[in-house]
Amino acid sequence: MTSVSRFARITGTGSYLPPRRITNHDLVADLAQRGVQTSDEWIVERTGIHARHFADEGVTSSDLGLQASLQAIAAAGIAAQDIDLIIVATSTPDMVFPSTAAILQNKLGITNGCPVFDVQAVCSGFVYALSVADAMIRAGSARRALVVGAEIFSRILDFNDRTTCVLFGDGAGAVVLGASDEPGIIGGKLQADGAHLGLLKVPAHMAGGEICGNPYVEMDGPGVFKFAVKTLAKVAEEVIAEAGIGVDEIDWIVPHQANKRIIESTAKHLGLSMDKVVLTVDEHANTSAASIPLALDTGIRRGQIKRGQTLLLEGIGGGFAWGAVLLKY
Ligand code: UT7
Repeated sequence: MTSVSRFARITGTGSYLPPRRITNHDLVADLAQRGVQTSDEWIVERTGIHARHFADEGVTSSDLGLQASLQAIAAAGIAAQDIDLIIVATSTPDMVFPSTAAILQNKLGITNGCPVFDVQAVCSGFVYALSVADAMIRAGSARRALVVGAEIFSRILDFNDRTTCVLFGDGAGAVVLGASDEPGIIGGKLQADGAHLGLLKVPAHMAGGEICGNPYVEMDGPGVFKFAVKTLAKVAEEVIAEAGIGVDEIDWIVPHQANKRIIESTAKHLGLSMDKVVLTVDEHANTSAASIPLALDTGIRRGQIKRGQTLLLEGIGGGFAWGAVLLKY
């Protein structure tokens, strides 16, 4: 056990998108060759997505996570060897086991024996991972945690299913969370309801050397949409109320980037203008557990998010699992 600190604070962020950028027009043309009809107009109007990035064959989630982590570690001004906890949120791990976090630890050259593990909470994975790291830092179990969201969703998309394949992309985001006596993460809430399996899943498992069941994303889009709109604003309001601050004190919402309409609806419900929302879904599409740290790093590097500002991070995904984290950057 190390000494106990009152807060965990973000000291550095990073992100990485694989270089292969696929516009809606590229995807529409590719899908047409398979006999799958969609259009740039439909995708933009229903989701706000204009492009996504896809990783090349052979590239893994830990490869994307490595690039994001190196940036976050550099931004924090520490050496990789100073990291004493790694948590990776992913639904597209490199392997069944070991964890992607263990593979990342090795790629970072960290030999100090720090604990590493993955968190599987689909699109809310980063909010879950950040909350776990926060709790471990405040308990004195770690002082410099690397928290990563990394996904290669293109590998689990059925490109014959236009209701899902136009929505997702690949990428990674990372933060270094350090023990601090200054805030820091000031509130948060994680929730889940396993009764909604039917809304969103990749049902396959492996047995006897075979993949059993559908290894691609299955989603009831409108069902997810309704659930997300109802749930995200509620959890955000609860977190804000419990922290005892006013909504007007929030400088930025950094939401899970699945659909611009869901993001707009949550902001409207909270009474916040879209000027206070970091929006990256247009360029990244839905990168699941990577989407919040990718948006956070993008907002910081664009100069939108500044030190001392109050941020609300919120996400929802398969499970269903959802949550929100309130923090001073
Ligand atoms: O990260 C969390 C997981 N995911 C989400 O948060 C996604 C949540 N859901 C959504 O974002 C939206 O529900 C979608 C973008 C998936 C769909 O938008 P929607 O406005 O709910 O459309 P819809 O599913 O009700 O479909 C409307 C129409 C249908 O045609 P008909 O029955 O009206 O003739 C669909 O067949 O759009 C059709 N459609 C498409 N048309 C062109 C569905 N996908 C496509 C497509 N291109 N790619």
